[in-house]
Amino acid sequence: MRKPIIIGNWKMNGSIDSVKKFATEVSPVLKDVTIDCGIAAPFTLLSTLKNEFSDEFKVYAENMHFEDTGAYTGEVSADMLLDIGINSVIIGHSERRKYFGETDETVNQKLQKAATKGVNTIVCVGESLEEREAGKHFDIVLSMLEEDFKDIKEQDAQNIVIAYEPIWAIGTGKTATPEDAEEMCKQIRNKMASLYSNDLAETIKIQYGGSVKPANVKEIMSMPNIDGALVGGASLKAEDFIALITYNK
Ligand code: PGA
Repeated sequence: MRKPIIIGNWKMNGSIDSVKKFATEVSPVLKDVTIDCGIAAPFTLLSTLKNEFSDEFKVYAENMHFEDTGAYTGEVSADMLLDIGINSVIIGHSERRKYFGETDETVNQKLQKAATKGVNTIVCVGESLEEREAGKHFDIVLSMLEEDFKDIKEQDAQNIVIAYEPIWAIGTGKTATPEDAEEMCKQIRNKMASLYSNDLAETIKIQYGGSVKPANVKEIMSMPNIDGALVGGASLKAEDFIALITYNK
């Protein structure tokens, strides 16, 4: 069975004070939480999150570079994340692709580096509104997967979580219908079976992301091929985050 995984993505939000307040509210609830959960946060907040929460709470960076060291002003490597006790990272979020020139090629390089270093990853894929309206969404997403997973070995691929995030649903309040999200996640799973094996396709976790909130999380999570959610806006407030991670209570 695939254990559900709900991760908040704070993007460029939060302060040390806000992390402490968030942890005070969320920590007491965690003993009753039966799914995997955690937060992806800006580099400046990672150590505080790590210190404020117990080990089972997952703390993700929002990006890393594929080189180990060097002249890459403003970047952070896998070794640097590991150095502060962070072993998880989001790769290829659509905002990284849109604003920071991330491509399937760099996403692939980052996934390869993370695999070598034993860093856990969530890799994000998703289509734009024009691509969906043109009926190209399956082709686009499945070919992203082909490129993103190029030369990634099965034993490494099985530890990667795939987040399907249609770009038109991110931060817009427009959620894909649970049926549309399920349809894509099913295609993603089939694609993983053809790239790797049925075993891998059965075990790999697929999240949906895009305007997930307490009001719709249960319905989304009830879909057979959706194993989790990557949540932006609704993960910032402790009250909403608690509602998300206890959706099954
Ligand atoms: P949203 O963001 O929940 O605010 O739509 C999701 C994401 O970007 O991961």
